[in-house]
Amino acid sequence: MFTLPNLPYVYSALEPFIDAKTMEIHHTKHHQAYIDKLNKALEKYPELQKKSAEELIKNLESIPEDIRTAVRNNAGGHINHSFFWLILKKGIKPEGEIIEAIKRTFGSFEKFQEEFNTKSVNLFGSGWCWLVLNKDKKLEVITTPNQDSPIMLGKKPILGIDLWEHAYYLKYQNRRSEYVNAFWNVINWKVVNENFLKAKR
Ligand SMILES: [Fe+2]
Repeated sequence: MFTLPNLPYVYSALEPFIDAKTMEIHHTKHHQAYIDKLNKALEKYPELQKKSAEELIKNLESIPEDIRTAVRNNAGGHINHSFFWLILKKGIKPEGEIIEAIKRTFGSFEKFQEEFNTKSVNLFGSGWCWLVLNKDKKLEVITTPNQDSPIMLGKKPILGIDLWEHAYYLKYQNRRSEYVNAFWNVINWKVVNENFLKAKR
């Protein structure tokens, strides 16, 4: 059985950039729903219950067809949200090896931000924008639809933003670009740097 991970901070920790009510609903309702639906989908398949959520989405073709879409959406949702909570924190300076690598890859930190913002704002519908390390160990900015994870594409997530309306609608309504701009104030660059160092190995 998959269970909801605790957040390493209180729901108000990211105020005013991400409000407490959004965080609470996002964690206890939306993330919980992905977990409940994943557990439900796996009920008939005890052998799959032993696998990690990552193992499940890496081999979607091996998942029985009747639950494949449910596993894709809900294991993906569980993985993406578990990842997202950990990269959020207020007041952490952008520094470390990841920042040097970003500057080398994109030309400057500002150019990286610009590309990330543009792709986030332009993503049609619900999904995510990511900084990933690809199979060639290069950094790139990609988007994924719905709850698809970069892991499905053989790419390792370093940083990501949830672009579903449930992530920002209470505070920002239809103004996704304001939410994306606010996101830069709540990135835990220490964790992002660790993600990068782990992905490079
Ligand atoms: Fe979400």
